[in-house]
Amino acid sequence: MSKKTLTAVRGNILHFLSDPALHGDEAYQYVEDGILLCENGHIKKLGSAHELLGEIPEEVEIEHYPGHLIVPGFIDTHVHYPQIGMIAAYGEQLLEWLETYTFPTERRFSDQVYAEQVAEVFLNELVSCGTTTALVFGTVHPQSVDAFFNKAEARNLRMICGKVLMDRNCPDYLRDSAESGYRESRDLINRWHGKDRLQYAITPRFAPTSSPEQLGRAGDLLRENPGVYMHTHLSENKNEIAWVQELYPDSKHYLDVYDRYNLLGNRSVFAHGVHLCDDACQRLADTQSAIAHCPSSNLFLGSGLFPLQKLRDLGVKMGFGTDVGAGTSFSMLQTMSDAYKIQQLQGSTLPAMQAFYRATLGSAEALDLQSTIGNFEYGKEADFVVLNPRASTLLNFRVDRARNLEEQLFVLAMLGDDRTVSATYIMGEAQFKREDHCTKAGCTHTHC
Ligand code: GUN
Ligand code: ZN
Repeated sequence: MSKKTLTAVRGNILHFLSDPALHGDEAYQYVEDGILLCENGHIKKLGSAHELLGEIPEEVEIEHYPGHLIVPGFIDTHVHYPQIGMIAAYGEQLLEWLETYTFPTERRFSDQVYAEQVAEVFLNELVSCGTTTALVFGTVHPQSVDAFFNKAEARNLRMICGKVLMDRNCPDYLRDSAESGYRESRDLINRWHGKDRLQYAITPRFAPTSSPEQLGRAGDLLRENPGVYMHTHLSENKNEIAWVQELYPDSKHYLDVYDRYNLLGNRSVFAHGVHLCDDACQRLADTQSAIAHCPSSNLFLGSGLFPLQKLRDLGVKMGFGTDVGAGTSFSMLQTMSDAYKIQQLQGSTLPAMQAFYRATLGSAEALDLQSTIGNFEYGKEADFVVLNPRASTLLNFRVDRARNLEEQLFVLAMLGDDRTVSATYIMGEAQFKREDHCTKAGCTHTHC
């Protein structure tokens, strides 16, 4: 038997066991000056340094991050890797933005070498922001997915991706057919789903760009391949919703289009859901389908204000997504900040504990991966992030004035960004370290 590999990090450790909106202080565990011990890339033990220092074998080097916060890796439940080249494109709302910027950008992904170059840039961004798992759109080209999975596999990342299905209302150069889309998706599933840490998502772009026949074939794929995901967009923008009603006049509402083709379920993830009627919300809850809430994107495209509280009260599974390139940041901390402000505009709120829960365990639950990632329970995959609450001059000044953990987390969520991420660990090993990070005993500052 091969020798067991033990790795350990030391710092202030926080993770969630359930939703703090439902279980308050019982929902999380916080160990000030704790140690997280990993064995062969999985969580072995979490405890106070005081307790664990004596029992960890001497040869195990403990990486010490004094004053830093160690949390589970962030999970982005909706993002488009090909759109990194058009992030921050000016001046349009959804439908015009797709025509003007998105479709021409996605055209280039017929070239697998180009796609691999972009996938590399994208994964560097994700990991340097502390995101360790994502549910990712490719383009209509199967080679865009091969490119993405090749790069994710080389880094041992847990990633979910799929080829876009799109057989109408788009340029010819991005169009597949119900049959070619079915075949190409099936072949990609056979090639990638369940390989290492990779999983496949059947990915109709959204109802307007798929014929009824294509949505029917997507339903076939889902039925024939248990365990694969279904990933699409839903009720993001008012003009889009009106268009769906014209294209599918017999449907009760937008979600009902997908429902009629058997596309709802425990591994179905719908991006946005900004404008949903009560019936659609209830149907999401009843089928255990998930919403990916993408606050940065909703603000950037002027799509609307997401009803987080209503969906949570109904028990709808919900994660956070960046939706880059409509979202303008890869950072889950900035995503928390936008999510908070969207609730404020509706007279509601989002406490920091709930925001950190959503970006970790809540998003794992949305992806039905809660028994694999999302917190530091024994046996889970050891993907985690080391955050430096003093990463900038302003943060340093402000954090000194935070009176408790909740306040420190809120400041991190409002003022933090990629600079706040000192290190990102994948399966117990550091895959990213910010260069200016200092691990000298007692030092919590950068540039020293
Ligand atoms: N709806 C259909 N396609 C897209 C896309 O690429 N981005 C966003 N935000 N919404 C969409
Ligand atoms: Zn999207």
